[in-house]
Amino acid sequence: MSDQTLENLLQETRTFPPPPEFAAQANGTAEQYSRAADDREAFWAEQARRYVTWSTDFTQVLDWSEAPFAKWFADGELNACYNAVDRHVEAGHGDRVAIHFVGEPEGDSRDLTYNDLHVEVQRAANALADLGIGKGDTVAIYLPMIPEAAVAMLACARLGAPHSVVFGGFSAEALHSRIQDVQAKVVITADGGYRRGKPSALKPAVDAALEHGDTSVEKVLVVRRTGQDTDWTDDRDLWWHEAIEGARAEHTPTPVEAEHPLFVLYTSGTTGKPKGIFHATGGYLVQCAYTNAVVHDVHPETDVYWCTADIGWVTGHSYIVYGPMTLGATQVMYEGTPDTPHQGRYWEIVQDKKVSILYTAPTAIRTFMKWGEDIPAKFDMSSLRLLGSVGEPINPEAWMWYRRVIGGDRCPIVDTWWQTETGAIMISALPGVTAAKPGSAMRPIPGITADVVDDAGESVPNGSGGYLVIKEPWPSMLRGVWGDPERYKETYWSRFRDMYFAGDGAKKDADGDIWVLGRVDDVMNVSGHRLSTTEIESALVSHPKVAEAAVVGATDATTGQAVCAFVILRQEAVQEADEPGEGTELVAELRNHVAKEIGPIAKPRQIMIVQELPKTRSGKIMRRLLRDVAENREVGDVTTLADSSVMDLIKEGMSAGG
Ligand code: WTA
Repeated sequence: MSDQTLENLLQETRTFPPPPEFAAQANGTAEQYSRAADDREAFWAEQARRYVTWSTDFTQVLDWSEAPFAKWFADGELNACYNAVDRHVEAGHGDRVAIHFVGEPEGDSRDLTYNDLHVEVQRAANALADLGIGKGDTVAIYLPMIPEAAVAMLACARLGAPHSVVFGGFSAEALHSRIQDVQAKVVITADGGYRRGKPSALKPAVDAALEHGDTSVEKVLVVRRTGQDTDWTDDRDLWWHEAIEGARAEHTPTPVEAEHPLFVLYTSGTTGKPKGIFHATGGYLVQCAYTNAVVHDVHPETDVYWCTADIGWVTGHSYIVYGPMTLGATQVMYEGTPDTPHQGRYWEIVQDKKVSILYTAPTAIRTFMKWGEDIPAKFDMSSLRLLGSVGEPINPEAWMWYRRVIGGDRCPIVDTWWQTETGAIMISALPGVTAAKPGSAMRPIPGITADVVDDAGESVPNGSGGYLVIKEPWPSMLRGVWGDPERYKETYWSRFRDMYFAGDGAKKDADGDIWVLGRVDDVMNVSGHRLSTTEIESALVSHPKVAEAAVVGATDATTGQAVCAFVILRQEAVQEADEPGEGTELVAELRNHVAKEIGPIAKPRQIMIVQELPKTRSGKIMRRLLRDVAENREVGDVTTLADSSVMDLIKEGMSAGG
């Protein structure tokens, strides 16, 4: 973000205090801040016992003796699936709808009650157990947004088998490396899902990921969603519905220690190799449920909640599966895109299902702004009472539009900052307490100590910027990088002494409220998806025609950032690219290559073929200068370049149409 934008942001002076009727019924209260400040551990112990049922109670809250490896509620035992399903049935809420599923094809909807879920998770757990899955075995899940995704995750949790969900938009290559890293024994997938009005196949990517036979995978369970033709490997593949039908209906959940890993989720870091972030069962569940209750203000008896994220991202894990279901909430799950079959699809769903809480991403809000406010205006959205935002900084204009057009000027907005690593929300308004400012994530929630520090790790005064850090361990913190404890210490705990470094820049305003400005490392945020510059560079360089590549995230009005690549070709390819028309073909080939290596989400918006890249004398690529080019700005200071004429060459090449 440029300094200019930053200055504009910080001149934002509007505040929106909670409406009194909202405050009167809110789960989050001012008292929780003081309670947590008085005794943080006692505060979290209280939340742990309020929101989660333990089969064995804990006696110790936090063990930080082996910092930065934390243990929370370590001698307690619980089962996450029991908490998300069984106990609601036992409490007499089995008839409550858990999931209003809305498929992308119109009219393709079904409701699952907690009773229905209870039947499904027991059968699915037995089916997995029949395939040899037990406590500690890992299962990869590669599914579209269908209820089976939640059932599959919960069935794993029921057995104490950590799941690793891979977003359906990732390629076979990406799936392969994740399956390898986590050593999955079973993969759960589907024939396909519906995407933009058509069935889109998923199973072929699983077949390709497993074709070399070099993985630990023994069986593949396939959900039939679209009914499209699917290749079959007889001794490996099984239909999900057949396995479930053949499985016993009763299954007793396996209690696990609080620190037992619940899941692994891969996320982009600053190096080429994605990190397997893993979370422990107890602390994670506690913070997901607590934040879903006090930040989203979920009242399970009356609310219809809708989080539009995909289950393949952490937001789907924490705020579709583990948060809302632990609370026993009723929610909408939607399979498709916001514009299928028309641009009012979301608002039609809000109207039909009487959604009261909506949680979505700034990139979606900016897209809706572009489509125009007459589209939501056609629907009755008076059921909405709270709006949430997550995934990237929300600019004040988008915040105001969201409030006015979607929220009818009455719904509080919570802008929630957190990460795959933090597991659950860390910084956000409490909607019944905080007077929110458009564009600010506001304050750490009760029980969390976040701060903004300077280069030396000193807390900055109000009105200044620096790095976002977390100063004390928190229940849902990552427990490490799967199989790589050193990388965990190095990535998060080495930049500042005794503090978790989030990788984001932030500023405190005059009141001490926090404005998150975005990543300060080589991680990009495209439509709220985390992508690593290095990972895309490696993908480009793996193409036989590419000698060298540099990738930057350029500001984009809709997606927040967009991937822009600068590529140096190998000599043989240069001549080819010079022939008329060949250059554009090559660019298309390289874009598709990135989609194949990582996934369509990583496709560069722009690829520029250049002869040189700007490097310092020590050989480090100066991405700042490339970002200037990608954003059509005057190129900044070039004095540290080994060869200062390089930027002229690049700019010349661009104006010549390169
Ligand atoms: C960014 C998504 C500003 C941030 C839950 C963070 C945000 C990264 C916000 C994590 C927000 C997320 N305001 N920036 N409200 N929420 N971010 O792991 O850069 O996919 O480090 O987790 O998204 O992305 P991740």
